[in-house]
Amino acid sequence: MNKINAKTKEFLFRDSPPHPLEIINSKGSYLVEKNGKKYLDFMMGWCVGNVGWKREDILKSIKKFKGPEYVSPTYIYRRWEHLAEKIVNILPKRNGTCFRATGGTEANEIALKMSRAYNKRKKFLAFKEAYHGQSIACLSLVKIPQHEAHFGKFSKDYIQIYAKDWRKTTEEAENLIKKRDISAFISEPIICNLGVIVPPQDFFDAVIEACKETDTLFICDEVATGFGRTGKWFGFEHYGLEPDIITIAKGFSSGYAAIGATIAKPNIAESMRFEFSNYSTFGWHPLSVEAAISNIDYIRKENLVDRANENGKYLIKRLSEFCEPEGKGLCIGFDEKREGTETRCLKDGLIISSLEGRVVLFPPLNVLKTEIDKAVEIIRRNI
Ligand SMILES: Cc1ncc(COP(=O)(O)O)c(C=O)c1O
Repeated sequence: MNKINAKTKEFLFRDSPPHPLEIINSKGSYLVEKNGKKYLDFMMGWCVGNVGWKREDILKSIKKFKGPEYVSPTYIYRRWEHLAEKIVNILPKRNGTCFRATGGTEANEIALKMSRAYNKRKKFLAFKEAYHGQSIACLSLVKIPQHEAHFGKFSKDYIQIYAKDWRKTTEEAENLIKKRDISAFISEPIICNLGVIVPPQDFFDAVIEACKETDTLFICDEVATGFGRTGKWFGFEHYGLEPDIITIAKGFSSGYAAIGATIAKPNIAESMRFEFSNYSTFGWHPLSVEAAISNIDYIRKENLVDRANENGKYLIKRLSEFCEPEGKGLCIGFDEKREGTETRCLKDGLIISSLEGRVVLFPPLNVLKTEIDKAVEIIRRNI
């Protein structure tokens, strides 16, 4: 483990000291540190590396690409159309229109803009202290106290509900939506950013019904939960929901390149058909497009959605021997018993994350049973 050096301090800004590992390589479910030590990666960059590291199929598709280095957003480029069709074909209803983005924040910004353009309302409803990105709008959605303290008070157009006491929260959300002045409710289907919280079916049923009645849109943020992470292609499928807008990034390329997208029901996408409604210089860069196409093919070929489901059941069963895990597929969280679980696990060679009293685990979807067993023993020793 390395200490931050003077050069890093001088030229590269960090809001807090870096994670102590200096990573020089990766393979499968492991990251390799400078001194050669291998770490079992149960974070995968926070739901990024769904397919595991160093997958030759994806690396080859990027390396052998002979197309243009760059295509301007306004030009015709057939691989964009191919990728858009591929994404829409994954959706249960195979119905959607894709907007190109570079990552999750931008995908959510597009969703918020589109929602306002669609119903001409300004307000948004979201879970307090969840996470949808780093732009001012995305930070306003969730109102994390230190952000308001440093960036100034966020607009009152952004309203929050709490991911606890579900009966009260459901009632509150329904009442707010029924005022008919909220443009959209935005949420992850399973709230990774609050330590993996699985909202009850009744919550989504009631809130989405209220949205439908009032022409309020439901934006489902699948940036972390998408692409098999929860044991389904998308987390909303667990609830039988039909989001108006879906946002994706992270597992969309499994980290092999930077890419995001906003997928809207076609009639809602129409509200953006005016000049300069959206523009992304690097949205769907040709190399990122190849990575995303190849990533989707790989997930299908290796049957990773089903494997995430099976592996998740096994991991939850093993964790249940000593704690109370919550989650779906390989999107799992549980209460931390003693502070410092993350650091103690890291010393034992396992990368996990703890936040606000919760431990979260996001292993690769094709993690081996032996790797799960190894991780479980490390967690058991260190929890
Ligand atoms: C649920 C969710 N939405 C949006 C984002 C923002 O994505 P990006 O960092 O690609 O802008 C994240 C990132 O962690 C996320 O977890």
